[in-house]
Amino acid sequence: MSSTSATTEPNRPPSPSIERFRQIRARTTDLCRTLEPEDYVVQSMPSVSPTKWHLANTTWFFEQFILRKQRPVYQIFNDSYHFLFNSYYYTAGEMCARARRGLLSRPTVREIIAYRDYVDEHIATLLDQDDAAWIQQRVELGLQHEQQHQELMLTDIKHVFSVNPLQPMLVEASFSSRDTTLPAIGFERVVGGVQEIGANGDDFCFDNETPRHRVLINDFEIGDRLVSNGEFRDFIEDGGYRQAELWLSDGWAWVQNEQINGPLYWDEELKQAFTLSGLRDLDPATPVCHVSFYEADAYARWAGARLPTEAEWEIAAGSLSVQGNFVENGMLHPQPLDDDDGEGLRQVFGDVWEWTASPYSAYPGFTPLEGSLGEYNGKFMCNQMVCRGGSCATPGDHVRATYRNFFYPEERWQFFGIRLARDV
Ligand SMILES: [Fe+2]
Repeated sequence: MSSTSATTEPNRPPSPSIERFRQIRARTTDLCRTLEPEDYVVQSMPSVSPTKWHLANTTWFFEQFILRKQRPVYQIFNDSYHFLFNSYYYTAGEMCARARRGLLSRPTVREIIAYRDYVDEHIATLLDQDDAAWIQQRVELGLQHEQQHQELMLTDIKHVFSVNPLQPMLVEASFSSRDTTLPAIGFERVVGGVQEIGANGDDFCFDNETPRHRVLINDFEIGDRLVSNGEFRDFIEDGGYRQAELWLSDGWAWVQNEQINGPLYWDEELKQAFTLSGLRDLDPATPVCHVSFYEADAYARWAGARLPTEAEWEIAAGSLSVQGNFVENGMLHPQPLDDDDGEGLRQVFGDVWEWTASPYSAYPGFTPLEGSLGEYNGKFMCNQMVCRGGSCATPGDHVRATYRNFFYPEERWQFFGIRLARDV
């Protein structure tokens, strides 16, 4: 790390109270309440981390970026954890390879919970005794990081359970197939011109959302709801996965190599899908989820449309309030539109992360945070695509219109969905 001075960090979050700190930390362990110790250890593919690793990495973040500076008053909980639970901060040292996280039967879940309790007490004491701006900013960043891991814990355990022949459920289903008929997607016209996107830094934001800057866009139209399971099934039944002309070259190669013929978690008959509440009948009106960027792009082409760019998405979403089907609903699955969802753009926040046509890259004038925290976002600005809007596994107070999530175009294990756009 270089400096700890508050003046080096451009984003000025609200002061986190000890209550907010405790509440978000407790929310993480609460999401694990139905898990058994064996569930915490499994890594079902390289991009999935074991639940236990999430619990430890989020704790390491507070220890590494805040408490380590309080030594020797603060004593490191266990020196070996630095190697085990550093995710990708090379400036902080070497780390256990991502794909080997599932080999860590030790430390045990109990020891990780003790690690969490130890660090929590020290952070709470620090917040109580020292109101330095850098501490408050780092704690807020740690809590935002914690919320990102809350979502990853859910999508990761979903994948872990999906490869288990017993098809376990994390939660009892609190939703049912409603058999609603959807009207066709309507398109809302948005006037282009020179517009502004990006965060102005008044509230918490990640460095990659800044600086706010001008963009030039043409008039465009954007779909007033998400693409549904029923619509995506029409694409499959029309031979969508067998028509090369619908696909980007890399996408077509991916479909061939991986023998893809439907969204992740769908069964071969296109009748059921695995959810965090076990295997469920596919509801045609529910937004399609667990599709890759390639599938979203091919679907849009088949439907005579395209994906929105991230600037178009943000301008269209900009004036809407952030409400939708978030993790707090407890459904942990996208939901069909309700009669009381009203008119206009719907399902913009929550339900599924919406793939955009935009590669994840730096905004003009982007400056990463100083020191190790500069590795948080900026170094990933290559070969990934931007997703917007949050999902049914995102904490509702974590997302905003300027929020940029980013994933590789073939990835599917997050709650990824599709909104259409088209030129005027
Ligand atoms: Fe992390």
